[in-house]
Amino acid sequence: MTAGSTLGTDLFSLSNLELVPDPYPTYSGLRRTDPVHHSSMYGGSWVIFSYEDVVALLKDPRLTNNRATLPIKALPPEQRQEFADIVPVLSRWVAFFDGHEHQMRRRHMNAVCDLFSREVLVPVIQNAIDTLLSGWSRRHDLIEEFARPLPSMVITELLGAPRQDHEQLAKWSDDIAYLFGASALVADDLRRGRRAIHDFADYLGEHARNAIRGHRPTMITKLAEEKTDGFEFLLNEACAQGMLLMFAGLEPTRYLIGNAMWSLEDHPEQRHLLTESDRSLHYAVEEFLRYDSPVQYIGRMAAEDFIYKGHKIEAGQPVLLYIGAANRDENAFRDPEKLDLTRQPNAHLSFGRGAHNCIGATLVRVQTGMALRALATRFPSLRVVPEVPPVYNTNLGFRGFSSLTVHTGL
Ligand code: HEM
Repeated sequence: MTAGSTLGTDLFSLSNLELVPDPYPTYSGLRRTDPVHHSSMYGGSWVIFSYEDVVALLKDPRLTNNRATLPIKALPPEQRQEFADIVPVLSRWVAFFDGHEHQMRRRHMNAVCDLFSREVLVPVIQNAIDTLLSGWSRRHDLIEEFARPLPSMVITELLGAPRQDHEQLAKWSDDIAYLFGASALVADDLRRGRRAIHDFADYLGEHARNAIRGHRPTMITKLAEEKTDGFEFLLNEACAQGMLLMFAGLEPTRYLIGNAMWSLEDHPEQRHLLTESDRSLHYAVEEFLRYDSPVQYIGRMAAEDFIYKGHKIEAGQPVLLYIGAANRDENAFRDPEKLDLTRQPNAHLSFGRGAHNCIGATLVRVQTGMALRALATRFPSLRVVPEVPPVYNTNLGFRGFSSLTVHTGL
């Protein structure tokens, strides 16, 4: 379901709320006319719209992932000092390291985290789905009552924190996510984000210390106590990865489930593919990821001055690699504007590509497949309620709904 956009190409900005319902016509205009787009966001930045350029720049060593300062860069220079204390905490996130420093951390997380094994994931996810859907009757908010709590319950449990705390963890995660998807941040957003960052870090630290004292290993204590090729995290670094996993995992997953159910409204003839076979479900999840990616861009910063396709990119400038636009590039996909749940091949960029690709991709694939199948099996007639307008999340970095009312057909 989309509404046409009438925006001019010069109006692209993460704070342009007119783009929220349907940014795709604007992306496609810019991909044709100005694929390496200079923007006034963050005091001067670049937005990249074509598949070829996004893939090339994801591998380009002249861009760095060291962007823990990005949220405070959105403020006027005279306000930035007040928030300098969040930078050392965010700088511990694996996502913000480059090269060898990143590889060591990533290898350790791959070795220690329970994110990759279906045997571990399936029972945790199934239990959360059963809890959330039990007692559903006629009308429900798909996001608030299912798509948002599902990943937060699952990640809370994987982190080894008490499951009943998942709402608090999700709230902190929301406040942190806001810092990474809106360019028009004001000091109050940073104050909320900073409080969440410190409270979340304190919470995880306390739980980890208790777990170590009680000899109850959790994902976080294992990150701090085990070694991979001689590398281990300090406890505060392990806690920072826990915070990252919650924030990175919760925001996009909830939007993916809502976006998938929304796009099926226009394509009821494809619903049966959610239940037909495991293979058809797998292809469907990949196509939902491509068609309406919950993560719209990947952020990088220029590590040095360089020329890219005739444009001078200056050291320190943010570069936003727009996977939402690349995934609809006609040079990379046949009929890119069409939802085709049987699409193959489907080399979407929704998990990124290369050294930093999404560490939670297995969890996303398993969890989203199980969630969509559970909805389709339990409520074969589930539909969006047309007279209740959906509420879009207004953060253009994460695309999806904060509220979507459905009727189960019961
Ligand atoms: C629909 C759901 C998700 C989508 C679309 C998504 C997408 C992405 C993207 C685009 C990146 C950036 C790649 C880059 O910087 O080059 C990323 C990185 C990351 N994701 Fe996800 N993600 C999802 C869910 C998850 C989950 C469930 C987790 C873990 C619980 C997770 C953890 C991470 C981490 C830790 C990174 C940083 C990896 C690194 O820099 O090495 N994500 N994800």
